[in-house]
Amino acid sequence: MAHSDATEPFDLILMGANGDLALRKLIPALYHLFCDNRLHRQGRIWTVSRSVPSKSAMLALCKAAMLEFDPQVTFNEGTWGEFTDYISFVNMDFEKSLGYEKLQKKLKDVKRQRIFYCALHSKLYPTIAKQLAHSGLITQVSRIVLEKPIGSDYESGALINKCMAEYFSESQIYRIDHYLGKETVQNLLALRFANSLFEHQWNQRYIDHIQITISESIGVESRSGFYEGTGALRDMLQNHLLQLLCMTAMEPPASLDAQAIRNEKVKVLKNLKPITGADIDEHVVRGQYEAGFIQTENGNEAVQRYRDELGVDGHSVTDTFVAMKVEIDNWRWAGVPFYLRTGKRLAKRACEIVVQFKQVPHSIFEMQHKKTMANKLVFRLQPDEGVRLQLCEKRIGHHQQVRPMTLSLKSSNEEEARIPDAYERLLTDVINNNPTLFLREDELMAAWKWADPILQHWQDNDLKPETYAAGSWGPAAATLLLAKDGRLWEENNE
Ligand code: BG6
Repeated sequence: MAHSDATEPFDLILMGANGDLALRKLIPALYHLFCDNRLHRQGRIWTVSRSVPSKSAMLALCKAAMLEFDPQVTFNEGTWGEFTDYISFVNMDFEKSLGYEKLQKKLKDVKRQRIFYCALHSKLYPTIAKQLAHSGLITQVSRIVLEKPIGSDYESGALINKCMAEYFSESQIYRIDHYLGKETVQNLLALRFANSLFEHQWNQRYIDHIQITISESIGVESRSGFYEGTGALRDMLQNHLLQLLCMTAMEPPASLDAQAIRNEKVKVLKNLKPITGADIDEHVVRGQYEAGFIQTENGNEAVQRYRDELGVDGHSVTDTFVAMKVEIDNWRWAGVPFYLRTGKRLAKRACEIVVQFKQVPHSIFEMQHKKTMANKLVFRLQPDEGVRLQLCEKRIGHHQQVRPMTLSLKSSNEEEARIPDAYERLLTDVINNNPTLFLREDELMAAWKWADPILQHWQDNDLKPETYAAGSWGPAAATLLLAKDGRLWEENNE
């Protein structure tokens, strides 16, 4: 048998296999793992769907999605053929017991690692857990993977957790946030905790502020059913952005052990300064895109406003953009603002964590743009992953003038030609039973507890999002959010 990194044979039951997430991310990730021999050859992927009638229809969807969405695909009919032998299919309604009974008959071996992957709306999670339990599908070696957002506020999140806890132990529940599987986020840990250079400077004495941006140029695509009523705060900020903030701000964990890292992350979440009352209007910007132009490979493309997207209510107040100023109440970060921002239909697809250091206390050099010349460490998660450090150097020949220069820290692992997608890493971790990069129950609840007053405020006051043109960097108020503090978003500094 060929070499495989997966420790044991497994059954991965992919529920919602024809959904956007499964087709765009999970199937390509599994195909890459298969091609790289990282999946045990006696493993099996069970694609489960309610609306797809047959295995051949499911495979046709998967293949089309691979070719459309996977930028790294080196598609090979031969390997694809082998991969399709690895895939099984079950048609079932997630709310009825019949399908679970069908599944029970098919999954015979109770000793195999059994992973139920819920790539579905979280309102279905309690029903699924209950049905799995009633059909006797949950074995000693079963795990359940829950996609975010888990719930839509504190109360619904707590309800889902409570229901899960009836059927699974906490160690069997894998709450996934794929941003934690991105290579640069792992590198952030390495840079912070494997070097003494940065850690001494990593606090309010040396850092002026931190910006975390996840911008997307895509719109809501075919996901309005999910996105309407969810919005950017629930879809991106409450999870991905807060997790990046935790990784940036947490205290050094004692080890890479799952509990050690989660203990530190949850402390950050619990120390987030609550944003309530009038502070919400002051510190949070909520936006929705209007029509505009998006840059594509073929030039500028005209795109419609959010309210005209298929399946979106013409009076929708769903946020497609959110920016905010966040503070952490502890010794390390007192007084250091973290500016978080995310949105759809923005100028370009990018994700960066920018650590802006303070200026030197007294400059002996002539500096033309003093503010933009302070040191800056930028972690770029996408589209191209890497780290850059902005320093100052002397301008050649010009008396004693200094100018900014950038050191680019490219990965020295030359042999790693392809950067694995975050889902490849995380799926392998689930199969190998490694929960380090997954959220614990208390982390999820701390994040909802902090986000709830903002969501509530918007709802209670019937607040409408500010508009922004598709292809821009969001509403003017987002620029103002930093301008009030005498700062600029990173792209305005370039
Ligand atoms: C998902 C969100 O979690 O992350 C999507 O639901 C978003 O709305 C996606 O498009 C972005 O992920 P990535 O890895 O492409 O930046």
